[in-house]
Amino acid sequence: MTPQFSSQTLSNIEILKTRYPVEQSKSALLPILHMAQAEFGGYLSRESMDYVASLLNLQPIEVYEVATFYTMFHLKPTGKYVLEVCRTGPCALSGAEHIVDYLKQKLGVDLNQTTPDGLFTIKEVECLASCGSGPVLQVGECYVENLTDQRVDSMLAALKSGELSDNEPTPAHSILFRTCGDKQS
Ligand code: FES
Repeated sequence: MTPQFSSQTLSNIEILKTRYPVEQSKSALLPILHMAQAEFGGYLSRESMDYVASLLNLQPIEVYEVATFYTMFHLKPTGKYVLEVCRTGPCALSGAEHIVDYLKQKLGVDLNQTTPDGLFTIKEVECLASCGSGPVLQVGECYVENLTDQRVDSMLAALKSGELSDNEPTPAHSILFRTCGDKQS
């Protein structure tokens, strides 16, 4: 079935398109893909990407190549919380690989897999712009920095209990983890 944006989203898209010349409508693609991901179940299906292409008069391939390039877009259903661990140089040097291994062992799933309870998906992503606080992961709008096994344990427990929300905007790197509910730091 072809997905359909809500009338409110369609109206927001029309406003968004007015920011760009008609011949440059592709410039609105990134924000519209974010809207599609938010409105169509947390990921971009082939059908939803085709739908976005039709709204912008683009070829579907033009949408696929953008959606597959950026790791913030999920191409299949994910868990409620997507744990996106930075794997770029500075985080790699400070132990990101160990954190990924620890998450895999703790949750019993591999990269890009979701736990059977539907709560967690583990992904690796490129630099999250918090290079001085690695290893770092992003979950929703929340950063969890200076990761250790203990911090991972605290974070998972807080997410499971609902004490930590992944959509709580966090204003500054230095307080991100505390803002996200780490009582031990
Ligand atoms: S290298 Fe990990 S945040 Fe930049």
